[in-house]
Amino acid sequence: MAINITINGKQIEAQAGQTVLQAAQQNGIEIPTLCYHKDLSPSGNCRMCVVEVKGLRFLQAACVAPIYEGMEIQTRNDKVVADRKMTLEMMLANHPQDCITCEVSGECELQDLAYEYKAQAPYWGSKGTRYPVNSDPNPFIRVDMNRCILCRRCVSACAEIQVRNVWGVAHRGFDEQIVAGAGINMLEARCESCGQCVAYCPTGALSNKMNYGAARAHQVKRVTTTCSYCGVGCNFDLLVKKDKVIGVASNANASVNGLALCVKGRYGYDYIHHPERLTAPKVRRYLVDGTVKPKGHHDVTTGQPNPWDWVESDWDTALSFVAKKLKNTRDTFGPDTIGVLTSAKCTNEENYVMNKLARQVIGTNNIDHCARL
Ligand code: FES
Repeated sequence: MAINITINGKQIEAQAGQTVLQAAQQNGIEIPTLCYHKDLSPSGNCRMCVVEVKGLRFLQAACVAPIYEGMEIQTRNDKVVADRKMTLEMMLANHPQDCITCEVSGECELQDLAYEYKAQAPYWGSKGTRYPVNSDPNPFIRVDMNRCILCRRCVSACAEIQVRNVWGVAHRGFDEQIVAGAGINMLEARCESCGQCVAYCPTGALSNKMNYGAARAHQVKRVTTTCSYCGVGCNFDLLVKKDKVIGVASNANASVNGLALCVKGRYGYDYIHHPERLTAPKVRRYLVDGTVKPKGHHDVTTGQPNPWDWVESDWDTALSFVAKKLKNTRDTFGPDTIGVLTSAKCTNEENYVMNKLARQVIGTNNIDHCARL
């Protein structure tokens, strides 16, 4: 059902059930937010999105205020701007003044809004020195609750997207704090290190440990790619600095997964430049030497090279060994003595080609898949 409202003096037709924020965004009117995120249930607790509604005594949080017929809204008058600035200053009062060394400087939503509203940290407050820095032993996620603004996006992301309910809110008033479980560490609280909380954190309270201090946001090139771990096909951005992958960041525009990733997709990238990574095929030494397949174990007392050693080769050589052995086996023992296993880490096209190879070239229906993802 269409509803007529007015935002900043402009007549707008919105839909019943929408919030002020949704109606404004749909009409290209910007309202700042911190605790709100489109993927999560609105909680209405940061008060950055306040707007003035004609006839109502107090400013309303646009992310949770429903529209009604004839509603008249001001999104950026002096009263609204002053209120937002005061809200930011209260956050800054209990926030470390260390943007210069903060990991997320340049991509911090609090920093951007403080800059926009010219908000300064007041003389009072804790100045963000209340909690231990890097306080959780999780190997991937760095926790610094001094930088937390209690927006609760981490709580919602963990509960609504990953459904792990690791994060919660403890205490009230000045002592209010985001905690894992009942004040235990993240892994004990059933965290599976997906990093969703990091992706949704608007400040540096939750950041990535593996590449902490590796680069500023403006120093990395983001290369959108598809995860190589399973067949779901999540998209994310590789963070590349000087031709080296230093991290992964989820990409809100990823059509399959949005900001969500699993622990492997988000943190399993260290194989890329790992010194032990295989970059060329290897074949057994006895094949390279042209000798017959040795029986039993190698006798180390002979001092001769082990015929079972893997020797680095090139693709043409390795594949010709494979082709010869497959042909010999098929011709000698029949095609059904051969089985083919494909992989969820291959593309659909690669798996299709393996199917053709098994059924039409080798002549067997023995083909299966390593994981039913
Ligand atoms: Fe609306 Fe936080 S964004 S209250």
